[in-house]
Amino acid sequence: MNEEKLYDLVKKFELELTISSIRSFGTGHINDTYLVETSPAEAPNYIIQRKNHKIFKNVAGMMENIVVSTNHIREKLLASGEKEVERKVMTYYPAKDGKMFVNDEEGNFWTLFLFIKDCRVVELIQEPEQAYNAARAFGHFQLQLSDLPGEKLIETIPNFHNGLSRLKDFQTAITADLAGRVKENQSIIDQILQRSDSMTSLQRALDDKSLPMRITHNDTKINNILFDQENNSLCVIDLDTVMPGSALYDFGDAIRTLGNTAPEDEPNLEKITFNKPIYEAFAKGYISKAKSFLTPKEIENLAFSCLYMAWEQAMRFFTDYLNGDTYYKTEYAGHNLVRTKAQLRYLEVLESNKQAMDEVILAS
Ligand SMILES: Nc1ncnc2c1ncn2[C@@H]1O[C@H](COP(=O)(O)OP(=O)(O)OP(=O)(O)O)[C@@H](O)[C@H]1O
Ligand SMILES: [Mg+2]
Repeated sequence: MNEEKLYDLVKKFELELTISSIRSFGTGHINDTYLVETSPAEAPNYIIQRKNHKIFKNVAGMMENIVVSTNHIREKLLASGEKEVERKVMTYYPAKDGKMFVNDEEGNFWTLFLFIKDCRVVELIQEPEQAYNAARAFGHFQLQLSDLPGEKLIETIPNFHNGLSRLKDFQTAITADLAGRVKENQSIIDQILQRSDSMTSLQRALDDKSLPMRITHNDTKINNILFDQENNSLCVIDLDTVMPGSALYDFGDAIRTLGNTAPEDEPNLEKITFNKPIYEAFAKGYISKAKSFLTPKEIENLAFSCLYMAWEQAMRFFTDYLNGDTYYKTEYAGHNLVRTKAQLRYLEVLESNKQAMDEVILAS
C-alpha cells in the first residue's frame, strides 16, 4: 500500500491532524497495521488498520460491537476516576461520513484508532508472572463488560465456538469425503467422536441457559495485551472478535496455547506436555478478577473448558483436512493432519491433568 493512498484514507476520518509519516507496523498476521505519526512531536499518533474482510465478513457489525463495548468500558473508567482513560481502553475514530470505517478503491475496510505510546507487546511468555498479568487483563476486560447484556452485541462470526455446529460440520465432511481421506484416518475420527457427548455439554448448557452468554474477547493471545515498561498490563487490544460468547471460551482458548509446551503443529508428539506453572499462574490471575461475576457452574467448568477448546480445535483442523485443506493456510502436504494429531495429543495430556487442573481452580 503506497503512502500517498494511506494519507488519503487517514484524511477521510474525523480528526484534526498533521501527518508526518505513515509506516507499516507490528507483527499481526490477520490485519495490515500502519502507524500514523503526526507533528508536533508531542501530538498523539494513530494506527490505521486494514481489516481482513475475508475472515471478518461483517465489518460494520464488528465495528458496532467495538464501539458499544469500548464506550461501556470508557464510562466505567471515567466513573471510577481513572486519569489515563485513553491508555486503558482503545479509542476508535469515525470517518467524516459517520461510519466507523472507510473503504478504499478495492473495497477493503480501514479503521483508525489511537496509538497507545510507551508500551510493549509480549509475543512469547517467558515466565509465569506474565501469564498471571495477562490473565488479569483478560479477566478484567470481561469484568468490565459483565453488566453489558449479550444481546447488545452482534454475533459477527456465528457459532464461533458452538460445539454442536462444529460437530455437524465435521460429520458433513466425513460423509462428503471430498479429498478421499476418511478411510485411512478412521482412528482419528473415532478419537474425536468418542468424546462428542461430553464435549458438547458446554453448548447444551449455553442453549438451556444454565451457563450464561457474556461479552467475550475471543482472541485471548498474550500479544493482544499492551504492557507498560514495568510489565503491568495496560490495555486489551485487537477487539475484532469481541461478541457474545461464554467466558469459558476465553479462558480455555488461552490455555490451549499457553499451557502447551510445544507449538500447535508439533510433529513430535513427545514434546507435547502440560506447562503447569503457566496454567496455575493464568488461572490464579484470571480468577482474581473474574470470581466476582462467574457463576459456580462456570467456575466448575473452567478446567474442562481447556479440554473443550483442544477438542474443538482438533476437530476444526481435521474437518479442514477432510475437506481438502481449504480454510487454514498450510505450509506442506498433511499440515492439517499434523496439527490434528498434535491437538489430540494435547487433549490427552490435559485429560490426564484434569484433576490437578480442577484443584488449582478450587485453590484460587
Ligand atoms: N492501540 C494500540 N496502541 C499501540 N499499539 C497497538 C495498538 N493496537 C495494536 N497495536 C500494535 O499493532 C499490532 C497488531 O495489532 P492487532 O493485534 O490489532 O493486529 P492483528 O493483525 O489482529 O494481530 P494478530 O494477527 O497478531 O492477532 C499489535 O501487536 C501491537 O503491537
Ligand atoms: Mg493481535
